[in-house]
Amino acid sequence: MKDKVRVGIVGSKFAADFHCDAYSRMDNADVVAVAALDNLEQISGKYGIPATYEDYNEMIEKENLDLVSICAPNFLHHPIVLAASAAGVHSICEKPLAISVEQAREMVEVSERNNTKLFYAEDWLHAPALIRTEALLAEGAVGEILFVKAKEVHNGTHSPFAQNKETCGGGVFLHMGCHAVTWLLYILGQDDNPVVEVTGKMTGGGEQNFIHKGNTGEDFGMGMMRFKKGQFAFAESNYITQGGMDDKIEIYGTKGVIKVDLTFSSAVNCYSMNGIAYSIEKADINVGWTKPAVDEFYNLGYVTEMEYFVDCVIQDRQPKYGVDGRAGLATVEIIQAFYESNEKGKTIYGEWI
Ligand SMILES: NC(=O)c1ccc[n+]([C@@H]2O[C@H](COP(=O)([O-])OP(=O)(O)OC[C@H]3O[C@@H](n4cnc5c(N)ncnc54)[C@H](O)[C@@H]3O)[C@@H](O)[C@H]2O)c1
Repeated sequence: MKDKVRVGIVGSKFAADFHCDAYSRMDNADVVAVAALDNLEQISGKYGIPATYEDYNEMIEKENLDLVSICAPNFLHHPIVLAASAAGVHSICEKPLAISVEQAREMVEVSERNNTKLFYAEDWLHAPALIRTEALLAEGAVGEILFVKAKEVHNGTHSPFAQNKETCGGGVFLHMGCHAVTWLLYILGQDDNPVVEVTGKMTGGGEQNFIHKGNTGEDFGMGMMRFKKGQFAFAESNYITQGGMDDKIEIYGTKGVIKVDLTFSSAVNCYSMNGIAYSIEKADINVGWTKPAVDEFYNLGYVTEMEYFVDCVIQDRQPKYGVDGRAGLATVEIIQAFYESNEKGKTIYGEWI
């Protein structure tokens, strides 16, 4: 058994930063190289990464990696997973798994065929508040679950690739709504309880968007899912929410309610007349009362998800449902069904898990 995993990162900016931060807290993973088109000096300097590449294929070929962390635009997830898998290297793939169902399916199949692991980096499954929620549900705190609402919303993506439907795979509902959909599948779904119907409504991209007319994908999306055993779930995502990234989950059961506030629940309340440099992701104005995040990367689940994946490599274990290729694929399938529902103006029926 290996005691240390050799990691290569693809990408050098937003997601690469929290992947590198997570690895820097572990003693069983070494980030030995990073491949990206820009920002290479900054990220390698910040985290002491010895080798940099502009071509991820060259990095995979030369660095004898165990694991690739994919922090690149959505349309590159598919070719990077295929290249890594062909070289016998495991992948941690950022969300969404891919820009189409066909690509996502091929990523799962190729990984299985080559016996390489495909980790789907849905951080909500490892967010401490949601792990506590899961334990509360397991002890029967709310009785039988009837209805769950989940959302991630903010005021717009920082990445040019995510503003373009071709390179993102959709608009905000694929790009951020995927968090809610995967988590709902994990909590309510699993083998005997697939999603059986979905109904979606969203803005149409471009001029039809509420605010982001330059985005070719939608800037607002909401959708209802029904599970085979009858529970309803509501997923929401948008770029029309000012004031910082708002991730909220509400669970309604026969014996109780759980409400989770992932991003505005800091124990610190700050009133500053001068303003502070940073409070939470996507908050533009930090004057007056703010709720400055305490270890934001940890609380969003990035640190423990990466520890879990590294452990799976070391112990030669497949990831659990929810952070595996199968859940990543089901999420893309369901979101495509939401898009189809919106276009056709009707509910789409199927079986997704
Ligand atoms: N789990 C989360 O909450 C979360 C948060 C943010 C981003 N993400 C995901 O992470 C991924 C990256 O998003 P981001 O916000 O870091 O984007 P970003 O725009 O900040 O950075 C994109 C990076 O990709 C690199 N890149 C582009 N083309 C490349 C190529 N051909 N080869 C190698 N590198 C290339 C760029 O150099 C850049 O470093 C996306 O899939 C996104 O959905 C996940």
